[in-house]
Amino acid sequence: MGTGNRSGKKVYLFLAMAAAVGLCAGLFLFQQTKAVVPKYVFTYAENQTKDYPTTMGGMKFAALVGERTQGRIRILVQAEGVLGSETEVIRQMRYGGIDFARISLAQVADHIPEMNVLQLPYLYEDADHMWRVLDGEIGERFLHYPEQYDLIGLSWYDAGARNIYCSTKPVRTLEDIKGLNIRVQESDTMSEMITALGAVPVKIPYDQVYAALERRQVDGAENNWSSYEAMQHYEVARYYTVDEHIRIPEMQICAKHTWEQLSEEDRVIILECAKESALYERRLWKEYERTARETALENQVEEIVLSAQEKKKFQDAVKPLYERYDAEYGEDIAQIRALGNLNKKE
Ligand code: GCU
Repeated sequence: MGTGNRSGKKVYLFLAMAAAVGLCAGLFLFQQTKAVVPKYVFTYAENQTKDYPTTMGGMKFAALVGERTQGRIRILVQAEGVLGSETEVIRQMRYGGIDFARISLAQVADHIPEMNVLQLPYLYEDADHMWRVLDGEIGERFLHYPEQYDLIGLSWYDAGARNIYCSTKPVRTLEDIKGLNIRVQESDTMSEMITALGAVPVKIPYDQVYAALERRQVDGAENNWSSYEAMQHYEVARYYTVDEHIRIPEMQICAKHTWEQLSEEDRVIILECAKESALYERRLWKEYERTARETALENQVEEIVLSAQEKKKFQDAVKPLYERYDAEYGEDIAQIRALGNLNKKE
């Protein structure tokens, strides 16, 4: 009997312990579930492919925000333009459909004229010059401009230099570009620039450029090596002329109506994460751009590098844009230019 009692007690003890373990596990799971139920689920629009640096930057941003808000804010990055063209995304952000996006400055500036200054052709001497501008007081000031258009600027991403590429013939001189139909973004400044070079601008959304080149609706387009490769434009336009006519940085933006829902503490987190993700994107950019060029060259692309003399002709051809912008935004242009020669002065 005594032995029976002892084994009965053991069974009770075992059951009690199992119940306690179960209770703890239940509590733990409850806590965990509580922690991962987000208070906000936001959409983030991106028109590049999933492995493109800007998309990876967006994913990093979403992950950092998730971590630092303990799952309270969840950001869903929708790549490959599934949420619409950049123009449509901007419209939807203003009217409540999309919360965040990474957008080419050219598209944002098309609604905010004073932002065009940051993307004038041949404005920056090189990438370092552009980053001195964007990482400093000027870049910070320009991040606030979209507020007048119900958008909040968060950070600047890299997009390298843009070059002209053609399907119908190689562009070796400024003369060669005369009269060609060149696809541009939905941006008046980009149209003006292509007109100044002597070609005819045709506005087409990014996702339709491949088809337009293939059907010979346009003779060519212009973009950085990374986009040229990622969108496989090299398959249908194999003459790539490195004229580096423009650097158009990318912007990470948030819709004002979304921003206004957030507490001050969450806004600080979002801004911090956006800026950190931008540094990450900028690191990825360099490597992606290099391999994109290699892939294009392995696929029978002819790379045409302009001589300094020929490049000067391109630079002179776009001067009328400066005459126009100088009248209103001369001070900004002068400030940007002043940051250009720092290295040489040392
Ligand atoms: C770049 C930019 C895109 C933009 C595209 C364009 O590739 O990253 O966001 O849409 O230029 O030329 O339209």
